[in-house]
Amino acid sequence: MTPSADPSEETALARAMAAMAPAGVRTGCRLIHEGDEAHLLPAEAGSIPARQPAMRRASGAARWIAHRLLADVGFDGFALLRTPSGAPAWPEGITGSLAHDDDMAVAAVAPVAGIGSLGIDVEPTLPLPDDIFSLVAIPADRIGAADRQLAGRILFAAKEAVYKAAYPLDREVLGYEDIAVDLETGHATTRMRRKVSIAYCIAPRVVVLAFIAE
Ligand SMILES: CC(C)(COP(=O)(O)OP(=O)(O)OC[C@H]1O[C@@H](n2cnc3c(N)ncnc32)[C@H](O)[C@@H]1OP(=O)(O)O)[C@@H](O)C(=O)NCCC(=O)NCCS
Repeated sequence: MTPSADPSEETALARAMAAMAPAGVRTGCRLIHEGDEAHLLPAEAGSIPARQPAMRRASGAARWIAHRLLADVGFDGFALLRTPSGAPAWPEGITGSLAHDDDMAVAAVAPVAGIGSLGIDVEPTLPLPDDIFSLVAIPADRIGAADRQLAGRILFAAKEAVYKAAYPLDREVLGYEDIAVDLETGHATTRMRRKVSIAYCIAPRVVVLAFIAE
């Protein structure tokens, strides 16, 4: 955990995520701590090729959340393996998603009876640098009434969350230019014509949840 990480952020973010999540979607967050790689179950540790300690720590923190969310829906002790594409292999009948920034991990799960596929992303609440904004934004994006300073950051997180929701269904690698996001209506469309709904919060972190109806 970096010195900038504030433990009260965890509580505030948990509340913000619960408030924006659609019915049936369970969410959680965790500040990433030294030693969080120990939360990887042995099979999970073997499925994750990353050797850098910070990446393994972040994956461990995200799985710590996912293990609890999965236990709540009847999958206690489930090993959430990383597949070769990078996407996690959720239990039969469950969809979910993981993300981490430098300090915070987040996860969301839902029964596929209500939501066909989920995606999530977390980002610091900071403006997106101009050079990255020009890579991420396309003319078809609509910012609506979103915070002007943070619109680029929200778009960035939305496209990553939409990609994570769409990939398990379409198996297509998408670039930022392949996803048009409308923050006003809360919808996005991919190059594959996949329609995705989005919800987001900006404080204390930018988190976007993307969900595709079953
Ligand atoms: C999925 C991807 C965008 C994640 O971005 P990231 O900034 O590296 O990491 P995040 O913290 O946001 O998310 C990481 C989690 O995403 C999940 N993930 C990775 N690949 C995934 C995929 N293809 N489908 C769904 N989820 C995926 C994993 O659970 C991963 O966590 P883990 O490594 O602990 O298991 C990236 O790994 C990727 O595949 N990029 C290629 C395509 C791309 O970047 N397009 C531009 C954005 S649309």
